[in-house]
Amino acid sequence: MNTAAIPVIAIDGPSASGKGTVAARVAQALGFHYLDSGALYRALANAAGRAGIALDDEPGLVALAQRLDLRFEGGEIYLDGVPAGDAIRSEEAGRAASRIATLPAVRQALLERQRAFRRPPGLVTDGRDMGTVVFPDARLKVYLEASVEERAHRRYKQLIEKGIDANLQQILQDLRERDARDANRAAAPLQRAADARLLDTTCMSIEEAVQTVLQWFGEGLPQ
Ligand code: C5P
Repeated sequence: MNTAAIPVIAIDGPSASGKGTVAARVAQALGFHYLDSGALYRALANAAGRAGIALDDEPGLVALAQRLDLRFEGGEIYLDGVPAGDAIRSEEAGRAASRIATLPAVRQALLERQRAFRRPPGLVTDGRDMGTVVFPDARLKVYLEASVEERAHRRYKQLIEKGIDANLQQILQDLRERDARDANRAAAPLQRAADARLLDTTCMSIEEAVQTVLQWFGEGLPQ
């Protein structure tokens, strides 16, 4: 199938910027598929932990990425047939994901898996390099940002609502470290694609952000 004609909306940005929620809602509004690319890195790091593979063992992680049975179904991610659940949503899982995400061969091993999500009628995806590396020909690229303090607040609220113990100062520090690691790594660092539209959501509700992305996508459609 010639997938080039299938529209992709690529939403990139730093941790806890709200891109996942915005991307999922945009996908729902358009009836498009949705790929949470961070979940692939989180799931792989989680599976490595269970298989006793070190987070800096590049060949071991690549082999695991190639054989791992990873499926998304109804908003849940399944690892070898078992729902991953909250195990991949913790701050620790995010840190582990960001460590393996610095390894070029690991990124390469996940590349085709991510591109396989491009199916009719379209795909909305979020991550760090969706517009720069994975889908450089995306129909719309959005770089979603919010101040680190606002992001820390959102993440804190999210964890408390889930009944997970959280410390705001610790989250702030973790986010700063993760931002630095994601932006400064050599392989596919977090950066705004030259043709990405900037959406700063610091003072914006999720709904406003969703409407903005939908409007931008609509503007790019043939009249
Ligand atoms: O987006 P999320 O916080 O779930 O991603 C977890 C980690 O996975 C990020 O901190 C980042 O290092 C890595 N990641 C990546 N490229 C992506 C998505 C996530 O490097 N496209």
